Amino acid sequence: MTAFHADIADEFIKTGDLSDEKLRQLIETEECDDILIKAADKVRRRVYGDEVYLRGLIEFTSYCRNNCYYCGIRRDNRKAQRYRLSEEEILLCCKEGYSLGYRTFVLQGGEDMYYSDKMICRIVSSVKEKYPDCAVTLSIGERSEESYRAYFEAGADRYLLRHETADEKHYRMLHPEEMSLSSRKKCLFTLKSIGYQVGSGFMVGSPYQTTENLISDLRFLQELDPDMIGIGTYITHKDTPFSDKENGSLSLAVRLIAILRIMFPHALIPATTALGTIHPEGREMALKAGANVVMPNLSPVRVREKYSLYDNKICTGEESAQCRKCLEKRIESAGYRAVTHIGNVKRLP
Ligand code: 5AD
Ligand code: FES
Repeated sequence: MTAFHADIADEFIKTGDLSDEKLRQLIETEECDDILIKAADKVRRRVYGDEVYLRGLIEFTSYCRNNCYYCGIRRDNRKAQRYRLSEEEILLCCKEGYSLGYRTFVLQGGEDMYYSDKMICRIVSSVKEKYPDCAVTLSIGERSEESYRAYFEAGADRYLLRHETADEKHYRMLHPEEMSLSSRKKCLFTLKSIGYQVGSGFMVGSPYQTTENLISDLRFLQELDPDMIGIGTYITHKDTPFSDKENGSLSLAVRLIAILRIMFPHALIPATTALGTIHPEGREMALKAGANVVMPNLSPVRVREKYSLYDNKICTGEESAQCRKCLEKRIESAGYRAVTHIGNVKRLP
């Protein structure tokens, strides 16, 4: 490694931050990966030990009113198979998840207004009533402040809403006119002010992304100071306007996980399904680079294929119990331990 790069990595590991120019150097070189990953693992072990938190993911609707150019369940994809789970089906998933040891349920879906505020509140309060020792995480996109408040009052604890890219111009290249980065950001700050534990994040290697865009993502996250940060590689979906675009790079994504861990020592960072899709050991690599959460799929197997955000998504054929076992093995092989408690963020006092 050049002394130049070593100095930059050193400064970053010591201070958890860098100037834009030095961050650019760090993001653009592979040279520092080994020391970054080692340092990130040290940070994660200091804050979270060897624990990896499990979250049962229920993908409850594949309908979406949005038309993001990269996403397989975008509104205009006529080939997408659409489904909605009933309240009973969602509760059955939670029941199965609870018996597998999950103490967080992530209810995720497209932006599907079929689920009214009343329904979402009823679902959240039923889950919380049946499983008071569990956290409920919502990931249902942009809704009004009143809606977010109502879900929170019904018992929702956490909310995931990736900003996708923090750069206005890049945001425009990934989304149609009717969507806006400013409303996305506003939602995130609103969710925080209501009292949710908030998660955001972005795709690595999405079409037209530059290093400057990634720096904007890191700067935005510093401003938001989220509890959870989810990133994954962009993966092409054959029935989207981006069908001819290339997948994002795994090594860049892993490097960014290490950078995130060092910048945000307390953040909950998942080893995402996208990373497991792009490479058979992608999630293990993410764990070793500082990720401390996995989100096994709890959706009924018959709908799994239909929640197709990108091509070749893994875990579509496996029963939930199989995913549980598979993940436990992967976590152990990476040198960590799957734990079944609620897994709240560890904030600085
Ligand atoms: N590749 C990778 N990730 C994607 N997402 C949506 N489409 C893709 C894709 N083609 C991610 C977005 C979204 C999350 C649920 O999935 O970041 O927030
Ligand atoms: Fe689902 Fe491995 S995590 S099969």
